[in-house]
Amino acid sequence: MMKRIWMMKAATAAMLMATAATGAQAQGLTLSSPDGQLILNVDVDEAGTPFYTLDYKGTPVMEKSRLGLYGQEASLTEGFTITGSQTSTFDETWEPVWGEFAEIRDHHNELAVNFADAKGQLMTVRFRLFDDGLGFRYELPAQDNINYLALLGENTEFNLTGDHTMFYIPGDYDTDEFLFTEGPVSGVGEGLKKYQGVHTESQRVLDGENTIQTPLLIKTADKTPLYINIHEAALLNYPAMLLDTDTATHTLSSHLVPDKLGIRAYLQLPFATPWRTVIVSDDPTEILASQLILNLNEPSKIEDTSWIKPMKFIGVWWEMFTGRQKTWAYSDDFRARPGETDYSQLKPNGRHPANTENVKRYIDFAAEHGIDGVLVEGWNQGWEDWGGYRKNRSFLFTEPYPDFDLPYLRDYAKEKGVKLIMHHETAANAMDYERQLDDAFRFMKDNGYDAVKTGYVGAIIPRSEHHTSQWMVDHVQHVIEKAAEYQIMVDSHEAPRPTGLIRTYPNWLAQESARGGEFESMGGNPPSHTAILPFTRLKGGPMDYTPGLFETRLATYGEGKTDQAMTTIARQLALYLTMPSPIQMAADLPQNYERFPDAFQFIKDVPVEWRDSKYIEAEPARYITVARQDKNSEDWYIGAITDGARQATVPLTFLPKGREYVATIYADASDADWETNPQAYEIKTVKVNSKSKLKLNLARGGGAAVRLTPAK
Ligand code: NOJ
Ligand code: CA
Repeated sequence: MMKRIWMMKAATAAMLMATAATGAQAQGLTLSSPDGQLILNVDVDEAGTPFYTLDYKGTPVMEKSRLGLYGQEASLTEGFTITGSQTSTFDETWEPVWGEFAEIRDHHNELAVNFADAKGQLMTVRFRLFDDGLGFRYELPAQDNINYLALLGENTEFNLTGDHTMFYIPGDYDTDEFLFTEGPVSGVGEGLKKYQGVHTESQRVLDGENTIQTPLLIKTADKTPLYINIHEAALLNYPAMLLDTDTATHTLSSHLVPDKLGIRAYLQLPFATPWRTVIVSDDPTEILASQLILNLNEPSKIEDTSWIKPMKFIGVWWEMFTGRQKTWAYSDDFRARPGETDYSQLKPNGRHPANTENVKRYIDFAAEHGIDGVLVEGWNQGWEDWGGYRKNRSFLFTEPYPDFDLPYLRDYAKEKGVKLIMHHETAANAMDYERQLDDAFRFMKDNGYDAVKTGYVGAIIPRSEHHTSQWMVDHVQHVIEKAAEYQIMVDSHEAPRPTGLIRTYPNWLAQESARGGEFESMGGNPPSHTAILPFTRLKGGPMDYTPGLFETRLATYGEGKTDQAMTTIARQLALYLTMPSPIQMAADLPQNYERFPDAFQFIKDVPVEWRDSKYIEAEPARYITVARQDKNSEDWYIGAITDGARQATVPLTFLPKGREYVATIYADASDADWETNPQAYEIKTVKVNSKSKLKLNLARGGGAAVRLTPAK
């Protein structure tokens, strides 16, 4: 199954050998990537502060960038000398359970540098250099002087080489559901101003300067621009990392999410932090193709993964966003106390879509069109308290509303071959969720559910915590591990942004953790948004973006007016390729799909797991074109999206030589435009082979989707 190719040849070892830099006192160490194009230097300065530099094809990527950690019990930031180092090389090809590729190669050179100070305090920094970037982490070995560390911060820096263009969202301890800003490093202060007013509570208590979030994308001002993604990998037992921006020196420095006491993490030695990652290339498609973050995560902890099944689903969901009178709650009365209300005494509001008859309609639709699952939101008791910041926030995850006949629906769904998908909105009462977790998961299994969408809207309970603090990182890990025990797949919303943990926990199919498609009903997502997410947020793992919007004229949430979603229908189809996920929603209402059955055919056909992926052309926030091969057939699919109108050119060189394929092209009509004519599309069929070149005309804010099947 798993191919392991270990190489430790003399020649290779010599190539990556840690070498002393020039100068009598210098202790500097050097490491190069397997292809020799990335060069890392590590050293200590006059104060004994560790630092690194990074070059790509001879161009500096990171200038002298400091390293270190400090806490209440010890400071590990200066006075260090290098006492030793170890190098190794690693080459392994592994098979993810699902994803963009059937096989992923992890080929890197490693350098571990041991630092010690005069007090005998020890710190190791482990660096891994891949052809597409760098990962490094701190390791605090067991040592005499430090047993525990109440961590106050990291000194980790990313010292950029100039006033480059960045694509960023504002720093926040609780949410990442923002639009991106594109602008120079020097202008971050100005750029962040426009988020005032959309601040959450946590932005007001943020204790850094010009704080932004990862994953972050940088396009350098070099003659041949470099594209750099900064993020982290394997975020476990530690808070998420934000970045403070020094707009004068163009230095980004780590800003860890604190708890209420200002403590960032409670560590017991020995301890290893998450990896800090820098993906770099002069070719933007290589940033999209990079698997560096997954490679830095541990292999799957789940041995038998046969129960993990990628899927498509529809949901009793969008009608709560767009049908303004619809609600998740069964009644408009507030409950006296959680768990003590007799629902038969409450007056039903008659606007509750999670009722037996409506859910049955969705099951029928899914069965008719071969959609695997039906998500039902608002099925359970507790929504009367919805509002996020109310005192009594408690949902009951084992108590359906009186109008949701679960035994009947369970049997009906089974008979129709459709899976019901569970919904656990916790309203951010993570504490209460932990108390109910075993009962909730057992209840799911008893009723035939294998997948759950979780949610954490509002301020976290316990109240001293943030969505991305160490406590919540631990909470979510607990939920995912517990879910695996019950053989349950998870799609989490409002959880800490993903860092490649899907490799370790492949039952964690997707996360939201960014501004999703639902915002088309809350102000809109400009076309650039889905052209920057794959360069940023998606590097951590798949997103439950909820594509598939066919009715683009939308009621705007809470305002009673309509707005135009910034998309064409053809673009919505392309999103199934450009926003890959093993769990993909067809987000629109069944009646809207029934109006456009020929376009809906693409959503029915498109797979959710891939054997291979080829990024053809891309530019951050502008356009992306990708081709992917179905994991389970000979079919290929192409997705292209754009910001401004353009023509995508796709040489079909990936097709097997000498074999004819039929291309079914779903494209914007010649007069399509997201604003004035979003629903105009054309579907045509052409015969192609590996020598063909497809030219796809994309409207402003538009896209194209193609299915390629071997000709009979
Ligand atoms: C926010 C989620 O992102 C959305 O998908 C969900 O419907 C609501 N919370 C209610 O749980
Ligand atoms: Ca959300």
